[in-house]
Amino acid sequence: MHLNKATYGTLIPQCLALLEGEPSRVANLANLSAALKHACDWHWVGFYVVDFARNELVLGPFQGPVACTRLRKGKGVCAEAWETGLIQIVPNVHEHSGHIACSSATNSELVIPIQSEGRIVAVLDLDSVDFDAFSAADTDALKPLVQAIETSWNQWEV
Ligand code: SME
Repeated sequence: MHLNKATYGTLIPQCLALLEGEPSRVANLANLSAALKHACDWHWVGFYVVDFARNELVLGPFQGPVACTRLRKGKGVCAEAWETGLIQIVPNVHEHSGHIACSSATNSELVIPIQSEGRIVAVLDLDSVDFDAFSAADTDALKPLVQAIETSWNQWEV
C-alpha cells in the first residue's frame, strides 16, 4: 500500500507531538513504532539500534511479528543502511542479495539510517507484504520525523 500525502500529513505531526517533552528514548521509539504501524498496513515497523560495544545492530522498539534480535555487518538491508549511511529502498526483498527474512510475509522494505553527531546510531526499518510499497515519496514524507529523532537522540535518556 502506498501512503498518500494526506495520511502522512496527519501522521507526521502526530508523531512529532508524541516526542514533545518525553526524555525516554525507549518510550519515544516505542510510540513512534506504534503510530507508524497503526497508520498503515505495514507488516513490521521498528528500530534497530547500533550496539557500539559489539559492533552490531540490536533490535529496538518495534511493532509486528517477532524479529531477528541482532544483525551483523555485511548481511542484510538494515546493515547496508548502517554501513553506507544511505536509505535502502528494496522493491522485492526476494531479489535482494543478502536480505534477511525475519518474516516470510515481507515482500518489500525501506530502511532509513538515523545519524547523531556524525555517526549512524540506529535505523528505521519498514516492511510491507506488498511488493514495491516504498518510494522516495515515503522517505521525503518521513524526513521531518527522522530529523526530529536525530536531533533528540543524544538528549534522550537511554
Ligand atoms: N530484513 C532485514 C532484517 C530485519 S527484519 O526485516 C525486521 C534485513 O535484511 O536487514
